[in-house]
Amino acid sequence: MSAPIIQISAVSKVFGRGGDEVTALAGLDLEIARGSIVTLVGASGCGKSTLLRILAGLDARTEGEVRVDGQAVHGPGPDRGVVFQSYSLYPWLTVEQNIAFSTRLAANRRRGEKAAHAARARALMQLVGLEKFANAYPHQLSGGMQQRVAIARALHLRPPILLMDEPFGALDAQTRELMQDLLLHVFEQEGCTIVFVTHDVEEAIYLGNRVVVLAPHPGRLDSVHEVSLPAHRSRDMIASPEFLELRRKVTERIRATSTMTNDLSALSQFGAPQAVAGASLPDLPAAGLTQTTGDQR
Ligand SMILES: Nc1ncnc2c1ncn2[C@@H]1O[C@H](COP(=O)(O)OP(=O)(O)OP(=O)(O)O)[C@@H](O)[C@H]1O
Ligand SMILES: [Mg+2]
Repeated sequence: MSAPIIQISAVSKVFGRGGDEVTALAGLDLEIARGSIVTLVGASGCGKSTLLRILAGLDARTEGEVRVDGQAVHGPGPDRGVVFQSYSLYPWLTVEQNIAFSTRLAANRRRGEKAAHAARARALMQLVGLEKFANAYPHQLSGGMQQRVAIARALHLRPPILLMDEPFGALDAQTRELMQDLLLHVFEQEGCTIVFVTHDVEEAIYLGNRVVVLAPHPGRLDSVHEVSLPAHRSRDMIASPEFLELRRKVTERIRATSTMTNDLSALSQFGAPQAVAGASLPDLPAAGLTQTTGDQR
């Protein structure tokens, strides 16, 4: 097996000081294989976004080390494209200009490459199905279209790694499914490595080669689940016994580590209404994770 593209070794992150101290991550070790999609799930506050920001070089770790292709990460770099839930496009730039934005930065501009950058922007617009909207502005696009621009923008400099934090979290269920399939298509075409944070267990399994469950307080690794579905995913796999079994397993791990469920059980001891505190979770949520309501198993 080739060397992992990302190596996370004993990474800790502590926010605040004294009484306000929060350990967002405590001694996390994880390796991410080149050319794979690794999805990160876990109860709210388990450090998913913190980990992604550390990988992106946007936050400094308190302890430990992150290596990308063997090089220690000390800040953002063109080898890592980032997509967040909020589309964060530049409203005064067109679709094409947003996608090629990185080449406006002096550090990314090399003489004689202008034509190549423009061709790359056009190829990406085609890849995400927006070639007809090259001259449109973000406010003229739907949420799904804006997120397609954000993905294309993150890929413009051909980063080997794409880091995504709940990129489809704000989209309706149908658009979200379309975006998942579009992302898998992009992944096959671009051959990058993707680290993808989501609250949605179904999305995590559908997209991931491995699903990593983090546990909160302090944020730490709970479990890693290999997804043994065929590499080329299709929607009918969601109903397969393997898929359902893995969904049950991952959901169970998140429930078991969710402090919110502990909080609700504690509330019930103080006579909170049964409808809230004593409600049991539906057996398998159809989409998304409902660990925020329910009892402790
Ligand atoms: N800038 C910050 N300052 C102080 N505490 C922070 C900061 N960012 C995150 N935290 C804390 O660190 C912990 C992990 O937060 P993080 O946002 O990484 O969780 P998450 O898993 O992404 O949660 P969610 O699923 O709700 O997005 C939380 O307890 C959070 O309150
Ligand atoms: Mg988050």
